[in-house]
Amino acid sequence: MTAERRVKFSRMADGDQDDFALLDQHERASAKAVGQRLLATLEMLDDAPSAYRVSRSEHSLQCATRAWFDGADSDWIAAALLHDIGDILAPYNHDEYAAAVLRPYLREQCTWVVRHHGIFQRYYYAHQFGGDREARRKYRDNDYFDDAVAFCERWDQASFDPSFVSLPMDHFRPLVDEVFSREPYAACNILPAVRLPLVDARKAASRRNDAVSAA
Ligand SMILES: [Fe+2]
Ligand SMILES: [Fe+2]
Repeated sequence: MTAERRVKFSRMADGDQDDFALLDQHERASAKAVGQRLLATLEMLDDAPSAYRVSRSEHSLQCATRAWFDGADSDWIAAALLHDIGDILAPYNHDEYAAAVLRPYLREQCTWVVRHHGIFQRYYYAHQFGGDREARRKYRDNDYFDDAVAFCERWDQASFDPSFVSLPMDHFRPLVDEVFSREPYAACNILPAVRLPLVDARKAASRRNDAVSAA
C-alpha cells in the first residue's frame, strides 16, 4: 500500500492524533499481507547453504504436509509450516523468532511448541556430540510437553526425506491467509491452556481419500 498522505512530524514526539491515526490505518492494512510475506520468506530460506538432503522450504512443506494428512487443524498446520521461519535470520534462537511471529494468531499450545521445538529436537542429535538429548525433560511438567514431543517425532524430525511428495506451497495459501487475518491476540484464538490433538483420524482419512480421488 502506497502512503499518499504522510505524517507531518520529523520527530515522533511532535506527532498529533491525526498523524498516529494515519499510521495505524496503514499498519493495519499492511498487517493483512503478513501471511503471504511469510510464505515468500519460506522460499528465501533456501538462499542459505545447507547440507540437508532437502531444502529448508521443502522441509517446511513436508512438515505441513504430514500435519495435513494427520488431520491436524489450521493452527497445527501453520505451526508446522512456519516453525523454522527464523532459520537464516536467527540461527541461534530460530524457535523464539518463529514463536514471536506466530504468537498473536495461534493457539498458545502451538506457539509454545514452536517456541521450544529446538530443545525438543535435540533429542535426535545432541548425544552425537556428547550433549544431553534429554535436555527437554526440564519441561516435563508443562502441559504441552507431550505435544512438543509428538510435533518433533511425527513432523519435524521426520521431514528430511528427499523421496517424500509434499503438497505445494499454494495448497497452504488459503490456510495461511485465514490464520493471519485473525484478530491479533484474540482470546478466542489464543485459547490459553487448551490442548487439541495433533492427529484427527477421521479428518486424516477424509483428506487421504480426497487426495486419492484427485490423483
Ligand atoms: Fe527448527
Ligand atoms: Fe524443522
